[in-house]
Amino acid sequence: MTTQTSTVTLHPRAADVQAQLSALLERRRAGYSLEAPFYLSEEIFKADMEYVFGRHWIFVAVAPQVAEPGDFITVDVGQDSILIVRDDDMNIKAFHNVCRHRGSRLCDEHQGSLGNIVCPYHQWTYDLEGKLIHADHMGDTFLREQHSLHKVHLRNLEGLLFICLADEPPQDFEEVAARMRPYLAPHKLNECKVAAQVELIEEGNWKLTMENNRECYHCVGNHPELTISLYEHGFGAQPGPQNAEGIARFEQIVKDSHARWEAMGLPSARIEELDTRVTGFRTQRLPMDRAGESQTMNTEVACKKLLSDQFTEKSLGGLSFWTQPNSWHHFMSDHVVSFSVIPLSAGRTMVRTTWCVHKDAVEGVDYDVANLTAVWNATNDQDRRLVEFSHAGAASKAYEPGPYSPFTESLVEAFCTWYVDRMRAGVSGGR
Ligand code: FES
Ligand code: FE
Repeated sequence: MTTQTSTVTLHPRAADVQAQLSALLERRRAGYSLEAPFYLSEEIFKADMEYVFGRHWIFVAVAPQVAEPGDFITVDVGQDSILIVRDDDMNIKAFHNVCRHRGSRLCDEHQGSLGNIVCPYHQWTYDLEGKLIHADHMGDTFLREQHSLHKVHLRNLEGLLFICLADEPPQDFEEVAARMRPYLAPHKLNECKVAAQVELIEEGNWKLTMENNRECYHCVGNHPELTISLYEHGFGAQPGPQNAEGIARFEQIVKDSHARWEAMGLPSARIEELDTRVTGFRTQRLPMDRAGESQTMNTEVACKKLLSDQFTEKSLGGLSFWTQPNSWHHFMSDHVVSFSVIPLSAGRTMVRTTWCVHKDAVEGVDYDVANLTAVWNATNDQDRRLVEFSHAGAASKAYEPGPYSPFTESLVEAFCTWYVDRMRAGVSGGR
């Protein structure tokens, strides 16, 4: 066995960090996991936050978290706290959670409701559009209009809220949104309510969380609850005589299901653009096994009230939507479950999972939270353990990048390729 020789702590001088990072990016071996410093180095973590999370569209929340005018949430991305608020015209806005007086944090809570945004320090007051409407003792020449809150770019993609911290966000989001809207719109996430939300801390690098999400090679050995609803041949395998019949049968089920769903106005064809654009994404609608209705322990709907009155049946499969760098989502007939990955440090990551149901569904009557959340609470915890094992392994001197399966890990490779491309663009000063 050879041992990897890369240092984990990069030389802290800024120019040296850039040079070492460039060298690591240039020698990345396609088809293999990344070298250890990408998972362990705090200097590379800072570069990740600048070049990836500082410049791309990040999934942070769902619109039902701010359902009414005045509802707000705060989300932290690196050093930045972002205030997301629904205004009186029902538009959702995002601002830096920083007062224009002397910079105080404005809202400390994770969520709530307010009439105006009042700074706790000297009570400068902003309306829900971010305009400064009140500031005592500032004199007659003070120009309130020059002290509005700093805006953050936000897009509401059929109920999924993405922000971008860059001055000029990647332009291709609009094209991604146009292609995804027909898939997502029928599920009416904008009209849902949040039934449950869980924040899970993983003691591992955010890229390990994402890599783990981009394959189901590990599913059979680790996810007894999730695999109840997955077809045996539905999540990739090396094809051979032993499984040719099963794969062909599954492909026929997909073809028949797609024809049925497309006829109902539900786009189902796969789109595969994880590493071919700046705003990488992927989608597909897959049938589920057994009752085939939902990602629950018995594969039946978790909520009796379906997401849309137009849904005439419960078995609409699972529409999955994956985005680079930090999210994945599953849209079913009865609920939507969304995952937002927020890096906290090189070795710590938060996964925020949100379950949404029809806004008129009644807890205890139409759905039970424990049943709704059972599969993904169990699966998330299993994934947390796998990410933590991977992170611990990457810290060993015996770690060296290992080969990806060409059959079941091609999307992990797509994630790493996208990441390396985006980091190369950042290091070279490009976009
Ligand atoms: Fe906000 Fe002074 S820092 S009012
Ligand atoms: Fe998993």
